[in-house]
Amino acid sequence: MNQAQLHHLLVANDGIKSKEDQFGIRLYTNLGLIQNLFFSLYPEDLHLEQFQKLVHKLSKLFSARPNFLKEQDLIRVDHVDWYKSNEIVGMQLYVDLFSKNLKGLYDKLDYFEELGVNFLHLMPITTRPKNENDGGYAVNSHTEIDSKYGTRKDLELLTKELRSRKMYLMLDFVANHTSDEHEWAMAAKEGNSKYQKYYYTYADRATPDAFERSLPEVFPETAPGNFTYTPEMGKWVMTVFNSYQWDLNYRNPEVFLEMLENIVALSNMGADVIRLDALAFLWKKMNTTSQNLPEAHVLVTLFRLCLQVVAPGSILLAEAIVAPDEIIKYFGEGNRTGNECEVAYNASLMALLWNSIATKKTGLLYKSLFNMPMKPLPATWINYIRCHDDIGLGLSDRFIQELGWNPKAHRQFLLDYYCQHLDWSPAKGLMFMYNPKTGDGRISGSAASLLGLEKAMENQDKDLAKKAVDKIVMLHGIVLSYGGIPMIYAGDEIGTLNDYSFLEEEDKKEDNRWVNRTERNWDLTDPLQDRNNVQGIVFNRLRKLIATRRKTLAFKDTNNLVVHHSRNPHLFVFERPDGHNRGILVIANFDERPHPLDALLIKQLGYSKSNMAHDLVSDKRRSLQKGNLIIAPYQLFWLKKID
Ligand code: GLC
Repeated sequence: MNQAQLHHLLVANDGIKSKEDQFGIRLYTNLGLIQNLFFSLYPEDLHLEQFQKLVHKLSKLFSARPNFLKEQDLIRVDHVDWYKSNEIVGMQLYVDLFSKNLKGLYDKLDYFEELGVNFLHLMPITTRPKNENDGGYAVNSHTEIDSKYGTRKDLELLTKELRSRKMYLMLDFVANHTSDEHEWAMAAKEGNSKYQKYYYTYADRATPDAFERSLPEVFPETAPGNFTYTPEMGKWVMTVFNSYQWDLNYRNPEVFLEMLENIVALSNMGADVIRLDALAFLWKKMNTTSQNLPEAHVLVTLFRLCLQVVAPGSILLAEAIVAPDEIIKYFGEGNRTGNECEVAYNASLMALLWNSIATKKTGLLYKSLFNMPMKPLPATWINYIRCHDDIGLGLSDRFIQELGWNPKAHRQFLLDYYCQHLDWSPAKGLMFMYNPKTGDGRISGSAASLLGLEKAMENQDKDLAKKAVDKIVMLHGIVLSYGGIPMIYAGDEIGTLNDYSFLEEEDKKEDNRWVNRTERNWDLTDPLQDRNNVQGIVFNRLRKLIATRRKTLAFKDTNNLVVHHSRNPHLFVFERPDGHNRGILVIANFDERPHPLDALLIKQLGYSKSNMAHDLVSDKRRSLQKGNLIIAPYQLFWLKKID
């Protein structure tokens, strides 16, 4: 049981309804744990004062929380697992590219409703440097809205409307770094030693060189090394991402206290989910990779528990694009189970799906999923196929080897397949951050271009275009039914192709992730106007899948995922039982030829009667031919139980 459930138990038993009393209970149920964790990072003999400050801050932050959010907190306490609902479907977007600004977004809310999307992830909207700013992930402020998006008032109006439409909002908390123009960085540059201690700053290369021996590089092509010399300060500062993103020094408890205020401010701005950006990097230690360190987990738990006290209606998403065994730890382990992040990106599933598309086989997908540790009950995934970033090949070398492939050669094959090194491949992607030292590379590109739509359009190849559309729908169908919050990347719902205009822009041309950050041209691509072009077809097919998901209770995530062996190397089969004979069997074919699925499995599980099965995707009855169900190329089935 996590702290949220414990709190629910206490207040439900005693029928406590006052907001202040509930705050008191939350404070007392969490304070012991908060204290232990705080002193484990910041020893009591040195940092008692900061702990006292923290306790005081919790009360202050609660008093400042708007009343309507406190009321919402109470409602959420009664529905602690609200974020696992099958009714939630998300979309991730850059406000400026999608609708110019926040007001424009307000005007597009009907569009989301039409599609069935009710959860919006707005990419960073706070102030940032004018030129290079990593898509807003270099923040000048964690809370001040950048004027190009509008004003605080615009955001308030938007969040009010979202709430009235029962839509959810996710905002980014850039926890690991600030821009070099943030007021703390500016003060540090001016020689202010208090603020220099907010970052990892060094007068000479001795410590940076020692760190470099074990630190990997995130952007080896454009930002090699992990430290940047700052002439104004006459010092080196740690910059793990870009040279203009300064890593915050959480060894300094003042940084934690300041950042706690920032995270609560986001919650007070109406964020239901707070995306903890790059949280694997929060703690740095010599002779380690400084990723996924135990202390980073303690920090995340501290943020979680403090939010649980002050603003329990907001939950945390882990943006940890790391190995599966590491991702799962962000849900919390041991006595912290369920007390870190409620949600994490399912980066493993994402990478495995792209692997299956390229290989047309599901062996690695199965092997990896069968070995995936079970997530705790309070936790859920964000399932997605594309986002604003590159695709990292987070696949297990051991499993690749066990399938009889050479891991290095296999990764090279995937890069070749997606990055236009193989004539026969339909994919049009770009290689991102190839590191010749290690042979590692990642992949940029839009879902549609990676799945062949761009090549199909260029060659006016109708068959290829149909396959691409089927693949787009099938992959989305998998993430819509897998268990967790499905997150559609804006543009993918209309099959948006790569956009090469970034190559003309000085601030963007070195970072080809921009190929998949396209400005929406509503005149050309309003699927609500024309439903017969590719955009309209993709939109409509996804709309139907979404509507079905939202009606299907078995798709609520109760850890009810059962992966079934298909005995066919190209098929992926999993079930979402619901314990009431209303489960769903999901079947997907990753090959360009039809494949049979042995009907015995379908029958044994109760998904057919008299050789008939009912598919919710097409809403048609399907007959089992000679004891098999035939799955067409890139077809998706959602079979429902037949009474
Ligand atoms: C996250 C973001 C990515 C950004 C990085 C640094 O990984 O998704 O776009 O570059 O953090 O903030």
